[in-house]
Amino acid sequence: MDILVSYLLQIVVLCISLLLIFMRIYRNKPTSPRLPPGRKGWPFVGETLEFGRACVSGDPEKFITDRMSKYSPDVFQSSLFGENFAVFCGASGNKFLFSTANESVNTWWPRSLLESLNFPFDVEGFKDELDELRAMLPEFLKPAALQRYVPVMDSMAKEHMEIDWSPSKEVKALPLARKYTFAIACRLLINVTDTERVNRFTNLLNLVGAGLISAPIKLPFTAFNRAVKAGKLFHEELFAIIRQRKVEFLEKKGQENVLDVLTRMLLIIEENGREISEKAVAASITGLFIGSYDTTSSTITSTLRYLAESPHAYNEVLKEQMEIAKSKGPGELLNWDDIQKMRYSWNVACEAMRLAPPGQGAFREVTSELTYAGSTVPKGWKAYWTVASTHKNPKYFPDPEKFDPSRFEGHGPTPYTFVPFGGGPRMCPGKEYARLEILTFIYNMVTKFKWEKLNPNEKIIFSPAPTPVNGLPLRLNPLKNST
Ligand code: HEM
Repeated sequence: MDILVSYLLQIVVLCISLLLIFMRIYRNKPTSPRLPPGRKGWPFVGETLEFGRACVSGDPEKFITDRMSKYSPDVFQSSLFGENFAVFCGASGNKFLFSTANESVNTWWPRSLLESLNFPFDVEGFKDELDELRAMLPEFLKPAALQRYVPVMDSMAKEHMEIDWSPSKEVKALPLARKYTFAIACRLLINVTDTERVNRFTNLLNLVGAGLISAPIKLPFTAFNRAVKAGKLFHEELFAIIRQRKVEFLEKKGQENVLDVLTRMLLIIEENGREISEKAVAASITGLFIGSYDTTSSTITSTLRYLAESPHAYNEVLKEQMEIAKSKGPGELLNWDDIQKMRYSWNVACEAMRLAPPGQGAFREVTSELTYAGSTVPKGWKAYWTVASTHKNPKYFPDPEKFDPSRFEGHGPTPYTFVPFGGGPRMCPGKEYARLEILTFIYNMVTKFKWEKLNPNEKIIFSPAPTPVNGLPLRLNPLKNST
């Protein structure tokens, strides 16, 4: 009997002990999830000023790499634009955000950007229509659709060289590259070619561009206020063009040969019997203008800069492009097959984008809680992927500061490390358009000139695209046997 009592007593003691241990564990269990390591910075502004300072000082990677070594090489927290942020890093962080987490995130942009782009509309009111139009973009920007753009881009590049480059011995590359890419956008996106209107659009978009990543303060002297006003005028002009296009294609139905994205968008909307408002169409076209606004001109400018510094790469590009030029008859324009032969030139442009990426990354909104590398990112937080964590990381690109286009030969860089256009379903829809525009420019430039930098130590700032502070002044030496 005694043995039985003692046995029961032991079981009771054991149960009570287990209960106490369980309660202790339960009491100590953190009630909040394990957030990514890092700091939020100052109240309200968070770390936005430090982030901005790093960009203006010409070293946007520093903000990221400092925190990667201090907190985590995978994901760290910050506070930017008044929001809680998880910054995903490295090839795995990029892959996670581009693909695995795609179901749990939405695109997100700072308020300043949305307001200047869409003013006077609240984008929330027509988000579904915008998503529908976004899904249509590959139809207009896929390689098959872009083939017909190549000769148009080439003839515009030739005209641009004739008018803006050839008459001068010295030029500023950045403003001229902007002029070239903007004229092409006006022609191919909305079929506007008259110079006065193109210039008006350029001035308005320059103001919108300057206010995109600014503090959203609407006072008369702020960049944001000027951007919002310019965005409104830009939209008014776009509405007038949309209505004019509608009238035009109602009069001449079945325009198989239309080139511009706007008209083709309107035709597809009508063919599918969709009801999509003019403001959604205008916002979508504005998105294309902004997407192409500074990115391609910045890449062209960086490519010219690196070619001026690298005689070997210049000679290889010249050899490749001269072979194509020699295969053409008098006055014959470039075509799609010619572009496919420009492999080395594209490697050069890619290496320029690795070292001087036109965009620093993109933002997402977390729509359901994410778990990554042992950290939890709560719903409602914003996420950021950035080129800065991989493009100059010696783990992925040995001797990262060296300009070396051969990195892109063969299989090229490790997946998810070279990401100027992003990746996964949200990858930039304008990648192929940009490739054609950049290569067409290089062809026309390199077969006409050799060039040298007039200011060898010109500073580059990031606003947000890399911008040489003096616009990259160049001395042009026309080639003797130019095309
Ligand atoms: C060198 C040139 C370019 C670069 C480096 C570039 C880069 C990017 C990046 C990084 C994104 C964000 C992707 C993400 O959310 O993860 C993006 C989005 C976008 N880009 Fe580009 N881009 C370039 C040219 C263009 C051009 C020429 C167009 C239009 C013709 C364009 C249209 C867009 C649009 C509309 C979006 C937003 C897509 C969305 O809402 O999901 N881009 N681009």
